[in-house]
Amino acid sequence: MAVPQPGSPHPTAQSIEDADGFSVIGISPDLTVDGGDLDCGSGLLLIIRKAMNQLQEGQILEVDSTEISVREDLPAWCRMTRNEYLTAMDGGDRIKYLVRKGAGTSGWGTPDWGVRVPRRSGRLDMRDWLTGRVGQIPDEAPTYLGFVPRGAVAEPGMPDYGFAINRRDEVWADNIADLYEQAKGAQWDASTAIAWDELPSLDPDIEKAVCQIMTFLAENEYSALYIPCKFMPRINPQFTEVLLFLATVVNDEARHIEAFTKRALANGGGLQYASAATEWSLYSLLVQEDYFRSSFLLHVLGEGTFLDLLRFCEEHAPDPVTLDVVRRARQDEARHVAYGVAHLKHQLSKQPDSVSELAEAVESRADAIAATTGATPFVMEALAVLAGGGSSPSQMSAGVAKVKKLYRTMHENRVQRLLQAGVSQAMADRMSDLHTPNFM
Ligand SMILES: [Fe+2]
Ligand SMILES: [Fe+2]
Repeated sequence: MAVPQPGSPHPTAQSIEDADGFSVIGISPDLTVDGGDLDCGSGLLLIIRKAMNQLQEGQILEVDSTEISVREDLPAWCRMTRNEYLTAMDGGDRIKYLVRKGAGTSGWGTPDWGVRVPRRSGRLDMRDWLTGRVGQIPDEAPTYLGFVPRGAVAEPGMPDYGFAINRRDEVWADNIADLYEQAKGAQWDASTAIAWDELPSLDPDIEKAVCQIMTFLAENEYSALYIPCKFMPRINPQFTEVLLFLATVVNDEARHIEAFTKRALANGGGLQYASAATEWSLYSLLVQEDYFRSSFLLHVLGEGTFLDLLRFCEEHAPDPVTLDVVRRARQDEARHVAYGVAHLKHQLSKQPDSVSELAEAVESRADAIAATTGATPFVMEALAVLAGGGSSPSQMSAGVAKVKKLYRTMHENRVQRLLQAGVSQAMADRMSDLHTPNFM
């Protein structure tokens, strides 16, 4: 085939529709390719694209084909790629199609051909892809890009998915890529990672306390599972690092539900009591529809408090299996809290006034659950038995003192996390005081 010279004159089309609907057109193409019997899905488009690359805008390509589906598919391809489909002509044993090269996809931007991510020995992680087009994280993401991976060249005219969370500050945390990499490396299997067969028989009061605590932990884990699941489809996929991290959170929470349930079942004690107060508290968390507020209530206040609760269970665990379960869950939770605190810090550094939204969220949640009994007595008693080492009066007394100390530790650590994120001391004290007695 002859390669045209740039700037060669383009003849004016003079088309006449013949009886079969084919046009007879008085122009000579700048380039002709033979597509044989290939259809658009099996190689013809590659031939056409290569040929188009040799043409200037406005020059004409003739595509010869014996495949009938091309008559439908080629005009559609031209529309999509912003080339001009001119006509189809009867060429005897084949059809001759004429296409005028348009501006093509150059107006949409150009793929990052030749931009290599830095490769370190033995790994390529998320932190490495923050380069070139992929590395350009928008402050405000358009909703019309749908599921187009960040960095890809998007054709105009896509459906608007109507994502609700489109500002980077609403979800971002500066450590997000680090946390994602840590999360993948820290996954564990609740079926095999715990030495379940080494679980000893325990005193019935202690076993019952463990089973009650496991019931409560599992119950709370459902809220930690449902809340990120609820928000993920609302987050613009341009913030992919956040989505992928939240996917690890969801997987962590699923595993926590599994592990706590298994521990309740493993010694024959089984799941114990669930209180209405706990359910009202978790419900008031679940119905929060604003991501910033929800993330604050869940990841900073709720899971932050849970860290102390899990550490308490770890310190007073009556056996190595229970200890391993709560220790592993706590390590996962620490990542979730790290995201929450970093996200809060990021948001407050950009919009310091938004702290008032958080205060309002804490206050309205406190109002919503004020009518309930607060901390569930089943759980308080179980924690005291665990910490006291039994249910005799002296053991209970010692256990209750330790639970009271736990409350103080939870408050101090909540305040510390808030201060770390940039909340003032007075506001941090107030928020911590108003936090749900249910812990989560
Ligand atoms: Fe969890
Ligand atoms: Fe969590």
